[in-house]
Amino acid sequence: MDTPALLRILRREFRLDWHGIHGAAHWARVRANGRALAALTGARVDVVEAFAWVHDSQRHDDGRDPAHGLRAARWAETVNDTLLFLDGNGLALLTSACTDHSRGLREADITVQTCWDADRLDLGRIGIRPDPRRLCTVPAACDPELLEWAYQRSKRIPYRWEGSAVEDADVDGLDGEAPVA
Ligand SMILES: [Fe+2]
Repeated sequence: MDTPALLRILRREFRLDWHGIHGAAHWARVRANGRALAALTGARVDVVEAFAWVHDSQRHDDGRDPAHGLRAARWAETVNDTLLFLDGNGLALLTSACTDHSRGLREADITVQTCWDADRLDLGRIGIRPDPRRLCTVPAACDPELLEWAYQRSKRIPYRWEGSAVEDADVDGLDGEAPVA
């Protein structure tokens, strides 16, 4: 993956606040979460890293935007030959992970599960402590130390959504989608 080129393009094309709840700092934390999880789960690191940068990059809204995962998957297919360089299986895993990442699912290939948990471990940025019962990679993501490490880091970025605290019940799926204010 050509990460610098990928980020240059995303910086130019991202429609939302680059420093917002679905922006670059979130992507970077998902990448760090994913790498830590992959060391425990055996997930494909190249797929997990690509997921981190791409999964929220095609959002049109920081609130409800149910098609953003599918758009991310389609976009990934268009840049795979020039930026991501995943093999066929890797691209299939990435598109699956992107397409369904905000649906709150738990069953999938271990690499897809690792992508989803890497994202969910960053819910602290919108005031939600990840619930181990809603994570996929048992026992990896449910390790109390790993959970706490990700949670404390996720909270350091100020929550920029204009509204009061987001309740778990308000979240559509588990990817940190805030409700429309
Ligand atoms: Fe995300």
